[in-house]
Amino acid sequence: MIEEIKILEEDTIEELIHESENEGYRFLSKMFSQWNSRENQFQKENEKAIIFRENNKVIAIGGINEEPYLKRKDFGRLRGVYVLPSFRRKHVGKEIVKHLIDFGNKYYKAITLRVPDNIEAYPFYESIGFEMTNEYESVTHIKWIKKALGIIGSPRHNGSTALLISRVLEGLKNTGYEINEIHVDELNLKYCTGCKSCDKTRECNIDDNFTKLKKEFWQSNIIVIGSPSYWGDVTGHIKVLFDRFTPYCDTIDGKTIVPSGKRGIAIAIRAGSTRNENQHILDSINHFYSHLGIKNIGNICVESINDISDLISQEEMLTKAYFLGANIDEEDRQEHPVLALKTGG
Ligand SMILES: Cc1cc2nc3c(=O)[nH]c(=O)nc-3n(C[C@H](O)[C@H](O)[C@H](O)COP(=O)(O)O)c2cc1C
Repeated sequence: MIEEIKILEEDTIEELIHESENEGYRFLSKMFSQWNSRENQFQKENEKAIIFRENNKVIAIGGINEEPYLKRKDFGRLRGVYVLPSFRRKHVGKEIVKHLIDFGNKYYKAITLRVPDNIEAYPFYESIGFEMTNEYESVTHIKWIKKALGIIGSPRHNGSTALLISRVLEGLKNTGYEINEIHVDELNLKYCTGCKSCDKTRECNIDDNFTKLKKEFWQSNIIVIGSPSYWGDVTGHIKVLFDRFTPYCDTIDGKTIVPSGKRGIAIAIRAGSTRNENQHILDSINHFYSHLGIKNIGNICVESINDISDLISQEEMLTKAYFLGANIDEEDRQEHPVLALKTGG
């Protein structure tokens, strides 16, 4: 059973310290001495230390702090996660880490950790959604909690699709998300060749900028895809992107291999005045999401937009786009809203 630690006495974790030192790790004795010197007692509202007790014996420990090395209040860091060797492979470590992540979800954009020269622990953390990184000092793994990616399907970088996506991202940013956007045309993605090798490998053998897109996509919890209507459909850029995601979709072996828990927003824009074409674009984007296990949480479509000036004059629509992002984590928000505004005629 998990218990929060408010007072840490040596008796409580003596065996854990002893066993960890036997394995060559110093991090628990360091954690204990920092607790005693009051340097770190996991006391802030966004910090917590826990133990796992079984039959009155303390068999595991772990904690989460504000990231002290990167000095970022919006990042959490797992500290001192340790399970007695004889209690490993019983999901105790997983329970400890999941508990700390659930707690950290409320406060942080990302949770980091450093696995001390213990490559054996890598698969454990990767199975809980952490990925290896060398982007930050003193960090071996990171799990993003609040990260959003805007995917702009129009080749016009300053066009209406880009503007609407930027408004959604602005809302997300103001509610604590790390945001990023990708202009699909800049990636120069190659066409899927239909070689079907991904049926076996679950990976694409084409070497191009898709890897850059995949990395961002994998890390992001919110995906926002927008496309203008080109001949009544998504742009060619978006279609090529969809095709290149085939290795990861659930039509192979009935299971998507995209990390779970992602939520998606679809955006469609067109010059003509009727809804049907835009609806087709939303359906295409949502078809893509559904085969990757991404839950739709919002749709925006705007008609009668020939030029960006037509959209700029529709402040109401841009405000709605902003609030779709800003209210993303509100519990009572409407599911699958279609925000639509017909302009002009
Ligand atoms: C090649 C091309 C094809 C288009 N086809 C359609 C179409 O079939 N239906 C439509 O309503 N608008 C069509 N449009 C207009 C765009 O959807 C519209 O101008 C949109 O606002 C452009 O968005 P953007 O500024 O993000 O590029 C087309 C535009 C281009 C360049």
